[in-house]
Amino acid sequence: MKQKILVAGGTGYIGSHTTVELQNAGYEVVIIDDLSNSTIEVLDGIEKITGVRPGFIQLDLKDKEGARKALQANPGIKGIILFAASKAVGESVQQPLKYYRNNIVTLINLLELMPEFGIEGIVFSSSCTVYGQPDPENLPVTEDAPIKPATSPYGNTKQINEEIIRDTIHAGAPFKSIILRYFNPIGAHPSAEIGELPNGVPQNLIPYLTQTAIGIRKELSVFGDDYDTPDGSCIRDYINVVDLAKAHVIAMDRMLEDKSEKPVEIFNLGTGNGVSVLELIRTFEEATGVKVPHKIVGRREGDIEQVWANPERANKVLGWKAKETLADTLRSAWNWQKRLREKGIQ
Ligand code: UFG
Repeated sequence: MKQKILVAGGTGYIGSHTTVELQNAGYEVVIIDDLSNSTIEVLDGIEKITGVRPGFIQLDLKDKEGARKALQANPGIKGIILFAASKAVGESVQQPLKYYRNNIVTLINLLELMPEFGIEGIVFSSSCTVYGQPDPENLPVTEDAPIKPATSPYGNTKQINEEIIRDTIHAGAPFKSIILRYFNPIGAHPSAEIGELPNGVPQNLIPYLTQTAIGIRKELSVFGDDYDTPDGSCIRDYINVVDLAKAHVIAMDRMLEDKSEKPVEIFNLGTGNGVSVLELIRTFEEATGVKVPHKIVGRREGDIEQVWANPERANKVLGWKAKETLADTLRSAWNWQKRLREKGIQ
């Protein structure tokens, strides 16, 4: 058995897939989640896949005393992976203080508590949103591309979170960090026992697309076909969520085995392939044989035209590479949507 890891936000979309991979790799996992955007049944899915039910504490990590008690009750935690955060770009524009409070206080509480409990490292969920719209010469984007002013309070919290980690470690804090900048995570575990479960009307492309394909939504709106891209629709780097989850295990191993080259390391997690919205719809239709009714509408405010990763640093230094094809990943998202229907959830 490897060490004990705290997965903050472990019942969420990426957190649950990462818990599975950590457990598969032999780590013992304790999840803290306030269940504000996930459900307790996620633990059943994790248990079905791995045969192990992770430890679970329902807690809002803005409550520092509560967090301290949780760590006291679970001695021996060696590493933290921090997913717990608010993540809806549009909502962050409407309710900025919710985002600043949730995303910043949670991180500060954990960083303050880590030395008290001898926790050696923290893996932080960041986002390619920190690059904004990279200049054309910076595409595909590397970790050294300039950080652009954030286009939403959500994006700003990710930039501030990264700075807080860097400043704290620079000041001599006795732990390491690996910051992972995700591109667009999609898909679900191949077992279809866990996946993305958005609340209400989905804001993100894939859940909206699969809900349209199954008939919950009438048609998918494609936000703009007049961008300066080959087919006019926006380009993103869609990364399989299980591939993404595996990178967290490698990052945790690296910190705990003292292999980091620097106290704070930053890695892009993407495939290196830019795919347009229209290409993605076509790939889904070909992969599943299911049509996705869609129409072109106006641009969505705040959208980046095109961004995709240069993942070479993660490929070389972490020895990690995205493996799943887009078609397989989209099939996994579709299987998950069908499973939700079978269960009568969506
Ligand atoms: N899109 C549509 N129709 C929809 C939804 C999305 O055409 O109904 C398009 C968007 O315009 C965009 C692409 O699909 O071109 C992807 O949109 P998503 O909302 O799925 O993802 P974003 O790239 O906008 O944002 C995601 C996460 C953010 C994160 C950001 C950058 O949602 O949390 O990536 O990391 F900050």
